[in-house]
Amino acid sequence: MENLNQNQLLQLACEASQNAYAPYSKFKVGACVLYEDGNVYKGCNVENASYGLTLCAERNAVSSAIANGQKGKIKAVAIYSPNANLCYPCGACRQWIAEFSNDAIIILESPEKEVVTYTISELLPYSFEL
Ligand code: THU
Repeated sequence: MENLNQNQLLQLACEASQNAYAPYSKFKVGACVLYEDGNVYKGCNVENASYGLTLCAERNAVSSAIANGQKGKIKAVAIYSPNANLCYPCGACRQWIAEFSNDAIIILESPEKEVVTYTISELLPYSFEL
């Protein structure tokens, strides 16, 4: 199977953001995780009346991969918000992504609608590992 390209992954992240449950912040986020075998998994943020229980889009997407039996390494994660340009992953999500790859590509969309990429180790240097 041919891997989806960066724009296609951002498109899927955009689609996922439309499913966000964000009645408190009104800040919708979607993520799409690409694995080395070419499979992709989408996630959106899911908020809760007990605010601290909110689940971010990226961790939702990674959880979906694991729940669906994915055992491989993350190749890329696209993140999109209709409410912000360059929607960087939060610290917790960086650590979650680093758990499954130290060279994953993080794909964001710039205000000019250009694709911007980083590696997870750029965004989370010296990550905690066991
Ligand atoms: N959010 C994400 O989904 N991913 C991130 O990496 C940062 C924040 C969500 C959580 C919350 O529902 C909303 O954005 C505002 O913080």
